[in-house]
Amino acid sequence: MLQVSHVDAKHGLLQAVRGVSLVVREGEVVALVGANGAGKSTLLRTIAGAHPAAAGTITLNGKDITGLAAHRRVALGVALVPEGRKLFPDLTVEENLLVAGRRARKGPWSVKTVLDAFPMLEPLRHKRAANLSGGQQQATSIGRALMTNPQVLLLDEVSLGLAPVAVDSVYECLAVLIDGGTTIVLVEQDLGRAMSVADRVVCMLEGRVALEAAAGMVTRDQVTGAYFGLARKGSA
Ligand SMILES: Nc1ncnc2c1ncn2[C@@H]1O[C@H](COP(=O)(O)OP(=O)(O)O)[C@@H](O)[C@H]1O
Ligand SMILES: [Mg+2]
Repeated sequence: MLQVSHVDAKHGLLQAVRGVSLVVREGEVVALVGANGAGKSTLLRTIAGAHPAAAGTITLNGKDITGLAAHRRVALGVALVPEGRKLFPDLTVEENLLVAGRRARKGPWSVKTVLDAFPMLEPLRHKRAANLSGGQQQATSIGRALMTNPQVLLLDEVSLGLAPVAVDSVYECLAVLIDGGTTIVLVEQDLGRAMSVADRVVCMLEGRVALEAAAGMVTRDQVTGAYFGLARKGSA
């Protein structure tokens, strides 16, 4: 479905993403992990069109989307849930959902189906986003992305800064999506969580893919090793 080939992305002179290739198949959940600064957010933003690719190609269902503006990628089915949620604070939950739905592709997601899937949001429907807890904001942010009826959902730092109980409720929301077959790329600091929901784990180190494996075929220690660059020197 989504194919990233030899993609570079830069911040000025700093090359944050270096020749990354990655395939995400339909219905797959890929956990993208790696230390702070490894390039995960830059990669997701480059896939979503929020950051330009300096080299390489990105295709969605075989169509080259590398040069398209972000809103055109949304229209084709690429949705990013950015780090820090980025809701409209003065709008209600429902209004935040509706804003995203305006230019949506056709598909199953509407305010009703989002609230059905994430029942924790139903009683908050008319509450301003600014007055929600972190977990409620994250669920709203995921719901907002769903309103565009994405083919692939890119989730950056799903649980960062959330209380443990809020993380649980966000993962309950994700479980609903995963059971429904949503294709997801998930950036998550909590390796245990990431590996428990993912089909495949991709670990980035200093802008490159240091390890890629089926989630069942790799141990936490191996992934942690790749995090810190031990895998390359080590085992083989
Ligand atoms: N807006 C920016 N301006 C300059 N450098 C940036 C910017 N965003 C990220 N970087 C740098 O790019 C590299 C990758 O960052 P990032 O993609 O945020 O990594 P991660 O999400 O894995 O923590 C880091 O060295 C970071 O300092
Ligand atoms: Mg990041």
